[in-house]
Amino acid sequence: MKVLRSIDELRKGLSGERAAGHTIGLVPTMGALHEGHLSLVRAAGDRTDAVVVSIFVNPLQFGPGEDYAAYPRDEEGDVKRLDDAGASFVFLPGADEMFPPGRSTTVSAGRLGEIVEGAHRPGHFDGVCTVVAKLFNIAGPHLAFFGQKDAQQVAVLKRMVEDLDFPLEVLVCPTVREPDGLAMSSRNDYLHDSQRADALALYRALRAGVAVLEEGGDHASAEGAMKAVLAAAGGVTTDYARAVDPGSFGPPVAGNPVLLVVAARVGPARLIDNVLWESE
Ligand code: PAF
Repeated sequence: MKVLRSIDELRKGLSGERAAGHTIGLVPTMGALHEGHLSLVRAAGDRTDAVVVSIFVNPLQFGPGEDYAAYPRDEEGDVKRLDDAGASFVFLPGADEMFPPGRSTTVSAGRLGEIVEGAHRPGHFDGVCTVVAKLFNIAGPHLAFFGQKDAQQVAVLKRMVEDLDFPLEVLVCPTVREPDGLAMSSRNDYLHDSQRADALALYRALRAGVAVLEEGGDHASAEGAMKAVLAAAGGVTTDYARAVDPGSFGPPVAGNPVLLVVAARVGPARLIDNVLWESE
């Protein structure tokens, strides 16, 4: 496994792979890797010949007052985990390598980036699109792997790939959960024991929403059930609990799968989670 810090070095390494006729899989991450990330690396290894994992805490996707400075960083541990998981290249650029002084261009996620999660984090999805577009241009992957836990990010990036004609396919891997249902997230590192127990309310809320839909309840009732669970939980402040269409993040479309999405603050962490519901 090669650990590379410059765009030029990565491009050179990958041109060798391309010359050998190898396919390239890209797993963009912000590091502090957990089993969710490693499942993406393994999925990439199953489907492509050379797996590139980028680790870059992207300043553009954090708003003022968010946790950019505090975001967990563990370069040494991450490199070891990626070696064990079978990555071929780790791309670890510094902030100046990705965003040198004088840069000006950004990619806008448009309306899809302004609703639901985007309404609570203005500019977040533009920052995600800008860095991911750069990573796509740098690595030129055949396949790019993202986790379903960041469902709106997946919708935004699929839209970007289609709208801007990136010649690659986005593959989405299932959310990886702890045995008690908590969705794995680097931000879970912020939680102490009792906050971690409080955080289980997010998955409980999603399950309550699913139960309403299973019983034939409407989307508003499912949202009500999710909000009630979050409100009843100690130490949890709800940002939103919504039933949306998984592609547009607008209102669900009759007869189509419904995505239940929640976001809440638990102690110092802001957590998101979602579950897709499909009628039989
Ligand atoms: O999902 C993440 O970790 C980040 O949003 C991503 C896709 C690596 C872009 O910085």
